[in-house]
Amino acid sequence: MEYGIETRCCHGVTEIVKEHSFGAVSVPIYQTATFAHRGIGESTGHDYTRVSNPTRDELEQTISSLEGALDTVACATGMAAISLVLELFDTGDHLICSEDLYGGSVRVFSAVGERRGLKFTYVNTADAALVEKNIGPDTKALYIETPSNPTMQITDIRAMKALADKYHLLLIVDNTFLSPYFQRPMELGAHIVLHSGTKFLAGHNDTLAGFVCTATEELKERIRYLYKTVGNCLSPFDSYLTLRGIKTLAVRMERQQENAMQIAEWLKKQDKIKQVYYIGLPDHPGYEVNKSQTDGFGSMISFTTDTEETARRILERVNLIVFAESLGGVESLITYPMLQTHSDVPVEVRERLGITECFLRLSVGIEKAEDLIADLRQALE
Ligand SMILES: Cc1ncc(COP(=O)(O)O)c(C=O)c1O
Repeated sequence: MEYGIETRCCHGVTEIVKEHSFGAVSVPIYQTATFAHRGIGESTGHDYTRVSNPTRDELEQTISSLEGALDTVACATGMAAISLVLELFDTGDHLICSEDLYGGSVRVFSAVGERRGLKFTYVNTADAALVEKNIGPDTKALYIETPSNPTMQITDIRAMKALADKYHLLLIVDNTFLSPYFQRPMELGAHIVLHSGTKFLAGHNDTLAGFVCTATEELKERIRYLYKTVGNCLSPFDSYLTLRGIKTLAVRMERQQENAMQIAEWLKKQDKIKQVYYIGLPDHPGYEVNKSQTDGFGSMISFTTDTEETARRILERVNLIVFAESLGGVESLITYPMLQTHSDVPVEVRERLGITECFLRLSVGIEKAEDLIADLRQALE
């Protein structure tokens, strides 16, 4: 019997946990670079930590279980995971990406991918017809975020899968914003799911991690081979921290979503707030599509203020909410995408998307919602 996702978050893969030495309930940290061979050709199953490590193995198998993946590799950061996936492509290959991607993804695509001769086209992937129009003979993959970072555009994963099947493309989904607790793109046909594990999965703003989940035997083999070759693995200690974070993923996601809903509704009523981007609000243009492919809305809210001065005042005056890059942790964080997460996105793209000097992004944590609202209220006054 397969346990519910809440139980799998908390207990991990029970067959492995039951085998822990001395009955340890939490995962032992195998802080070792290498593993002794008992004899020639006699491996313990682990030879060298860049390739595999029991602590990391347990984390990887837990993520595979949550995402419904065949296999997962745990990387040092989300960017390491994205960089690893780029290694699948050859000079001349073309990828179609959501126009509103995390700025670091855009940076690695242009600074590393384009230098290696890969080509990228950024379109609004909410528009499947537009995506199809951009598919050419060299197109090899569709690369999406849904919701996107930071303007929360929703892409129809099923529609992307239909295009991927029709044109023999890989469908790659960065699932950082909703985590497998709310969205499991592989159930809808994605071939690769990526994560910045730094965010909701680890959940405590205390460690960095990244994941590449694969759906097929062929992709598993190619990614595993590249993984041991380029060496961007997660350390045993960070694997332990991430697994510890995942134990509470379900309760955190629920609580953060509850808080986010209250805050989004409150923000909508404020005169100085002009637009609220939260996929849990029924007037969000992607509301129905998102509902059809997820179990929830998450806790990422973006909003625009009436003036740049108001935006800057909020950032300078918040007391409880921390003005910092990142998202998904228990502490609420507020970010200025134009100057922080999306500073490397070309200005004309930022402006077209509305990522202006009045645009702020809020990652809602697990605090008391009224305290967060009171903090925003005093900052706005
Ligand atoms: C959607 C998304 N993907 C990937 C990353 C990169 O992750 P990391 O910071 O762990 O390298 C981020 C970071 O903010 C992100 O928001």
